[in-house]
Amino acid sequence: MKTITIGLLGLGTVGKGVVALLQKQAPKISRTQDFQFKLKSVAVHNLARHQNDDLPAGTILTDKVATVVDDPEIQIVIEAMGTIEPAKVAICQAILNGKSIISANKDLLATAGPELLDLAKTAKVDFFYEASVAGGIPILRILSSSLETDQITQITGIINGTANYVLTAMDRKKQDYATALQAAQKLGYAEADPTNDVQGIDATYKLIILSRFAFGQSLRCADVPSQGITAITPAQLQSADQLGLKIKLLAVAKEFNHQLFSFVGPAALPAAEPLAHVNGVQNAIAIQSDALGETTYTGPGAGAAPTANSILSDLLATGDDIVKGNCGREFNSYRRPARARSLAAVPQRYLITIAGTGNLLSIASSVPTAQWERQVTSNHYWSGLTPVITQAQLNTLMKKLQKSHQQVAALPLANSWQTTPAPVTV
Ligand code: HSE
Repeated sequence: MKTITIGLLGLGTVGKGVVALLQKQAPKISRTQDFQFKLKSVAVHNLARHQNDDLPAGTILTDKVATVVDDPEIQIVIEAMGTIEPAKVAICQAILNGKSIISANKDLLATAGPELLDLAKTAKVDFFYEASVAGGIPILRILSSSLETDQITQITGIINGTANYVLTAMDRKKQDYATALQAAQKLGYAEADPTNDVQGIDATYKLIILSRFAFGQSLRCADVPSQGITAITPAQLQSADQLGLKIKLLAVAKEFNHQLFSFVGPAALPAAEPLAHVNGVQNAIAIQSDALGETTYTGPGAGAAPTANSILSDLLATGDDIVKGNCGREFNSYRRPARARSLAAVPQRYLITIAGTGNLLSIASSVPTAQWERQVTSNHYWSGLTPVITQAQLNTLMKKLQKSHQQVAALPLANSWQTTPAPVTV
């Protein structure tokens, strides 16, 4: 049986998960494949911190990336360092040394993916990154294989486990934002610095990667209007509940007339929608396509074992290519010119929440509710759903409400987006 030698960069939550799952599943891998893996060396930032980590006997622990990426015996480098630099330099060096790459680094793949993937193609090495989107859900393989023959029209994702964990805890356990975020960090879901998780940046990176597979269009971060969950209040979650809605951090890409409309941010979802039931660290991706209609894929979006499983599936695909001499095939070869548009700018409906203990009657009289479909009041807030309005009309409405009320918030109602020209009723 052929032995394929691998190296690992990074021994955080994901790296440790890879080492553990690789050891646990080694017997099954040697039963199902005609090759086995040997983990030769692991590079870490701080050697002292990893002295007691559980590594297979004989594995070299080093604080020098070059020990992994310049080792002629190593055929596959798994990059689990995260963030853009120095991962980019390490990956480039490994590719130039003829090694295949497996990465979970969505930041890097979203911002420098095309350039790195071209480098890998030229060097005739594999570059797989299933774990970069939605942790344990094998969504990129589904898009590049099972759905390759279908025409995808919309992707709606809950693709940040930390944000979904925080929103779920605020809604169900009535925890405040800081307590819920701390719990997500302790469970190993959040990035080392959770800013990208809660600001919608991590979800934007993942939407960019998903859009390349689903639509062949490569968006830039600046193309995607994005917002985080830091301003979401308990009043908004409660008022959404009262109206039969759930608030989720959504990442949406919708193709219309060859243009790709996108948006990342908190949005209200009717409670009957499948995505409204996706809670905690779970992720979900709903895909609308011509042949299949709507399919939804759910699973854990973060955490050591789910992410490691996606990395190991890439490892098997790469091992197979090495054995068969097939390296250099692209994970995704669908490419078309990008025509980016903002989904936040199209006419849509909004959930308006006004919090406070003021006179609710005066609130109600200040809102032009005649054509609003549903509205509700409680002792602490007023909320309602607008008809389809333009962004300019929303801005005028918000300015008017903010003159007399302090805490006024608006969230889009998912799937009310009018990408087709539609008469606007106000
Ligand atoms: N911090 C990410 C999340 C990890 O919470 O989804 C997986 O990409």
